[in-house]
Amino acid sequence: MSNIKGIIFDLDGVLLSTDRFHFLAWKKLADRMGITFTEKDNERLRGVSRMESLEIVLSLSEKPLTLSEEEKIALATEKNDCYREYLKTLTPADVADEVRETLAELRKKGYPLAVGSSSKNTRFILSQTELTDAFDAIADGNDIKNSKPDPEVFLKAAALIGTAPENCAVIEDAEAGLEAANRGGMLSVAYASAVDCPLGKVKLHKFSDLVNMF
Ligand code: BG6
Ligand code: MG
Repeated sequence: MSNIKGIIFDLDGVLLSTDRFHFLAWKKLADRMGITFTEKDNERLRGVSRMESLEIVLSLSEKPLTLSEEEKIALATEKNDCYREYLKTLTPADVADEVRETLAELRKKGYPLAVGSSSKNTRFILSQTELTDAFDAIADGNDIKNSKPDPEVFLKAAALIGTAPENCAVIEDAEAGLEAANRGGMLSVAYASAVDCPLGKVKLHKFSDLVNMF
């Protein structure tokens, strides 16, 4: 794997866990609308954009729903406002020391590092956890038209760190993200909840294993 010259990290589920906050915020909206939404349902939203996540939540409704685009945007905004309140409670302690130390080691070894996330809250999360300066570039949901499994966010991140896609590794905890990395011609590294996903070309069992992986 000596051809790997740059590393792109997904955010949610890789650098830190925001699953619980997503779940609580979607659940609040679902409860208000009389939709049953479980933690298992929440797993289907991993790596999926906010509006696509809303469609999945709405599809769980037992009564048929006819909503205009404006109404859907209002619902997604309601969820995001609630989610942002949870994000405000994040602190640097929400990022494991192992993650911080590994990022620092990789940089010391000369790899440019980027974040490639579908989340439009990426910059806020990185700022709350004081992780922004650990990266050379950030590409997120605000920078793209097509969400994962489209490779757009990773191609953008690769361009920002000046590394050809075939020389980039992507660390992902979601099936959609592994597919995006593969479609972008990058090395897909399956981690955490996606570690056994067949779409991953390489498995990462422990975050710090990255130091000696490439
Ligand atoms: C991804 C999460 O990182 O971001 C998804 O895995 C989430 O669950 C998506 O839906 C969009 O997030 P946001 O912060 O833009 O609503
Ligand atoms: Mg993720």
